[in-house]
Parts: sequence; structure tokens; C-alpha cells
Amino acid sequence: MTLTGKGWGRGLTRAHAHPNIALALLGFRRGSAKFSCLSILVLSPSEEAMLARGVLLPSFHLFRKTTCPRLSSYRHLPSPLSSFGYFPSRKGSLSHRTTSSKSGCSSRLPLSAETSAQVDQSLMSLFSTNRLHDKVVLITGASAGIGRATAVLFARAGANVVLTARRTEKLDDAVKECEEANKQGASGKGGKYVAVELDVQKRSNLDALIGQLPDWAKQVDILVNNAGLVFGTEKVGEINADEVDVMIQTNVTALIHLTQIFVREFKKRQRGHVINLGSIAGREAYPGGSIYCATKFAVKAFTSALMKELVDTPIRVTCIDPGMVNTEFSTVRFRGDKATADKVYEGLQPLTGQDIAEEIVWAANRPEHVNIAESLIFPVNQASPYHNHRPNLKK
Ligand SMILES: NC(=O)c1ccc[n+]([C@@H]2O[C@H](COP(=O)([O-])OP(=O)(O)OC[C@H]3O[C@@H](n4cnc5c(N)ncnc54)[C@H](OP(=O)(O)O)[C@@H]3O)[C@@H](O)[C@H]2O)c1
Repeated sequence: MTLTGKGWGRGLTRAHAHPNIALALLGFRRGSAKFSCLSILVLSPSEEAMLARGVLLPSFHLFRKTTCPRLSSYRHLPSPLSSFGYFPSRKGSLSHRTTSSKSGCSSRLPLSAETSAQVDQSLMSLFSTNRLHDKVVLITGASAGIGRATAVLFARAGANVVLTARRTEKLDDAVKECEEANKQGASGKGGKYVAVELDVQKRSNLDALIGQLPDWAKQVDILVNNAGLVFGTEKVGEINADEVDVMIQTNVTALIHLTQIFVREFKKRQRGHVINLGSIAGREAYPGGSIYCATKFAVKAFTSALMKELVDTPIRVTCIDPGMVNTEFSTVRFRGDKATADKVYEGLQPLTGQDIAEEIVWAANRPEHVNIAESLIFPVNQASPYHNHRPNLKK
């Protein structure tokens, strides 16, 4: 098998893999100097499984297996790589040799069995989705954007998903995507999906929700409170009163009500995870966003109080705060005016629903004793609701 991947930094990685041994040529550039390093690597069972499924091993994954002190001491090495340190041998089964054309690396003894096991455990923790297998995830607003991408990623990771929203046709399409993603994930786990029509603005709908679910979905493990929206950029005094109600009802009241329902269940079972979608707008208010910002500040406050109330339980509480994400969100804000909506992202690369889905699934996939309390995610050219750089703006 030949693996060719875009390497870490500017380097390239090529590996020729045999059942559990890989020969890897690792190369990268620092300024004008080129470094290369030939390594014989012993693959752990999880890596063997990844290769067998045709998954590319990320180049840092290979790097951490080299025994080159100079490479590892580079200040610019990403921290996970530095912390992986040196080559973990599989219970000392094979010795490890590495040579470098310029950096003067030489062979080094394998790590102790204990440290090797810890390193392998860290890698499993990073790359494996076992913790999500057969979990039941309920997502509001799963018909579009972040919610839909999250449903698909959980499906791929081997979880069962309840997809809820108002637009049932879109939900049905999302269910098909989940089925396909689950096949591609090839975990042999999960594979159960149900689309439930749900307008979160009506409290009676929320009260009836669990009763409507198929048996396999009644015990939800992870609640993703994602449904949310904003209307307009009008200033206080000019805001449509009905739209104020819809924003508060959808973004705050429904989220609180649904959380109450599921926290009661989670407490009975002494397990569960509430993941709420906040926003940068819940950290910094901006003109023209008073109501939306107020709703997201409310989400932040509610989530924070909930986390503190549940501190003596195994129940986890997370708030995910995205910056600019290119979804239908902006089109809804500008009441269907797509041209104006697109201007929000003009000249810069915004986040995608997929980017935020990865944060949500990452938080859910942490070990049970780890709670990602908050996560703030911007596109690289955004630094606050109103600080951004638009390098590709046409003049
Ligand atoms: N996009 C961003 O820049 C951004 C940034 C920060 C935070 N967020 C937050 O991320 C979350 C998801 O937003 P998104 O970007 O994915 O927006 P989106 O593409 O517009 O999706 C919003 C989802 O919410 C659902 N929804 C809206 N009103 C609903 C209601 N009354 N009942 C049930 N579902 C409802 C929509 O489904 P139906 O219309 O089919 O019901 C849709 O699936 C929101 O909470 C938003 O505030 C977004």
C-alpha cells in the first residue's frame, strides 16, 4: 500500500505499509534547509485498522514515531507532536532504527512499555470514535447547516441519530446522508436514524417529543440544542415585535425547556451530555444584533449555571460558540435575500457547518471524565463580531 499525503508543515509523507510495519520517508522544510528522515515504524492495532480501511495516517502521526531529537525540539512543532515524544514500541516486539540526511538522528531504544501504552491510549483517544458507538444523539435544527452536518458526522462515527426540525423533506434527505455516512464509516455500529417534525417554538411539541420517538431512541445520550435563528439588523426601537418573540422562543425558551426534559432523564440514568449552540454573539454584543445577542448571552448564562448545578454528577455540559459560519443562517437573517446574505462572507473564507460539527462531535467523543465546557471557533480572518479581514475582496 502506498500512502501519499500532504504533510505536516510543508513536508510530504510517503509510507509503504505491510501488515503491521510501515517504512516512512518523512520530509519537511525549515527555511531553506530540507530535512528528511527514514523510519521503520511498527503500527498499533488502531493504525493497522486505519490503513486497512484506506485511511491516510496524518503525517504528524508518523512523525511522532521517529526518534529524531532535533526534529522533536523544533519550536514550531505542534504541541500534540511534541507531547507524543518518541517511538512507542509495541511491547518491545521490534527494535526501531531511524536515520536522517541532515539532522543527525540516530537509533534510539523504544520507550518503556508503560509509556508506550500511554502514548497508544492517547492516539486511540484522538482517532477512535468507539465512545460514540451506538449512542443516541438528538439534534434540533438538523435539516440544515450545522445541525445537519453534525447529524451526518455522528452517523459516520457509529452513533444513532434523532433528527428534528420543521422541514421534513430536508430531514428525509439528511437521514439518507446519515445512512451513507454510516456505511462509509464502516464501524458496524449505529445505523439507526429517525426524522421527527418538530417546531421548537411550541412547548406542547417539546413535551410530546419523547413519546413520539421509536423505542431505540427513547434513551437519549447526547442532546444537541442547535435550532436557532436571527432576523434582521434593525436597531432597538425599530425591531419587529413578532420577530423578537420568535428569536427568544426558538433560541432560548425552547432550549431551556428541552434541556429540562432531558436533564431529568439524564439525572435518572446518571449519564448524558447537553451540547448547546451559543455564538460569538453570546460573548460580544454588536449593533444591529441586540435581540440575537441577548438570546445567545442567555444561552451562555443558562449553560454555565447548568454546568455548575451538575458538577456532582457525571452529566456533561458544553457550549459551542461559532463565529461566521456559511449556512442558511445569513439568508434567514436577511429574510431570503441571498445576495445580501452572501456579502457577509465576501472576501474571506468563512467556517462551514462541517467545521462546527467536528467541534461538537469532538466534545462528545472526549473521555467521560473530560468536559469541554466551552469552545469558541472563528474563521482565521475573524477575531470578533466586527473584526475581520477580507483578503480576497474585489475592489
Ligand atoms: N451560521 C452562523 O454564522 C452561526 C454563528 C454562531 C452560532 N450559530 C448558531 O448555530 C445554530 C445553527 O445555525 P446554522 O448556522 O446551522 O443555521 P441554519 O442553516 O439556518 O439552520 C438552522 C436550523 O434551525 C432550525 N430551526 C429554526 N427554527 C426552528 C424551529 N422553530 N423549530 C425547529 N427548528 C428550527 C432550522 O430548521 P427548519 O427551518 O427546517 O425548522 C435549521 O435546521 C443556531 O443556534 C445559530 O444561532 C450560527
